[in-house]
Amino acid sequence: MHIKKAAGARTSAAEGSQSWRAALLERQDLLWEQVRHHGEQRREHLSERATCVLADALQWLAELPENSIHAVVTDPPYGVVEYEEKNHLKLRSGRGGVWRIPPSFDGAKRNPLPRFTVLSQEEISALHNFFGALAYGLNRALVPGGHVFLASNPLLSTMTFHAFQRAGFEKRGEVIRLVQTLRGGDRPKGAEQEFSDVSMMARSCWEPWGLFRKPLEGTAAQNLRRWGTGGLRRISDAEPFKDVIVCSPTRGSEREIAPHPSLKPQRFLRQLVRASLPLGIGIVYDPFAGSSSTLAAADHVGCLAVGTERDAKYFGMGCGAFGRLRTL
Ligand SMILES: C[S@@+](CC[C@H](N)C(=O)[O-])C[C@H]1O[C@@H](n2cnc3c(N)ncnc32)[C@H](O)[C@@H]1O
Repeated sequence: MHIKKAAGARTSAAEGSQSWRAALLERQDLLWEQVRHHGEQRREHLSERATCVLADALQWLAELPENSIHAVVTDPPYGVVEYEEKNHLKLRSGRGGVWRIPPSFDGAKRNPLPRFTVLSQEEISALHNFFGALAYGLNRALVPGGHVFLASNPLLSTMTFHAFQRAGFEKRGEVIRLVQTLRGGDRPKGAEQEFSDVSMMARSCWEPWGLFRKPLEGTAAQNLRRWGTGGLRRISDAEPFKDVIVCSPTRGSEREIAPHPSLKPQRFLRQLVRASLPLGIGIVYDPFAGSSSTLAAADHVGCLAVGTERDAKYFGMGCGAFGRLRTL
């Protein structure tokens, strides 16, 4: 009698799960048609599951209907100024600005890195405003329980993450990417021999990714059934998603496919994108798509993804690189 009842309860739970899952999938398909065609800007449908729009993120977001995306995975311009016209032109012509070539200790040529220690108070406050506007836009466009994974840098993350909390997001921790970079660790400029035992800053060996969530509607279970969001997808039955990921710098083979100055590795992005949709249902958005690396990672793990990139050169780079990045 008791066994019969338990089996009956299991059947009705399974039937219930079938019905909310079907409703979520139906809504996802409707939203996908709207989101990938949203706005008048030029776009490229990179695959059935990925679209990149040549647009300013804040402008594109402003008109996006409420509750239309399920997760955000993005690597923004950390200090905002490095991708502004003035500094970007200097990067492309190889002439300094906020970009610098790290000192070479083994004769190998290094890629330029943005120098965030030179930001003025005015630039730092503009940075806070920029991330505030982005966070308000994302909070509106995300469904309740939607997560944001936001890359930053140890020098600027306090400011950036604060702007997200002010806009109404809950901070849910940080994902630490353990990566050996070429930032910091230098001896005093012009007096390297004299102070050979001194580094001006610690050599940076990690990258913080802020993890935020739009507040839930009801309980976790209710939110998952209604919106498909609120939690993080587990790695496996035995292993939850974890907040430290060891991931070496982007490989040369990926850089050849997509020579973007801030290219993130597929191996890392795939783990974030997969975790960002707890049921594997929904749409991931990358506002700062660069070379479409997040979109390629999403396609690889079977998720729908849309990106915006405002620079025509990187947009074109992404269109060319997408197919090869996703199959790496
Ligand atoms: C840090 S990079 C992202 C690189 C990317 N993770 C990749 O792997 O290729 C930031 C990108 O945001 C773009 N960007 C800067 N401001 C933007 C804005 N307001 N709207 C859209 N894209 C923007 C820049 O052109 C740059 O390509």
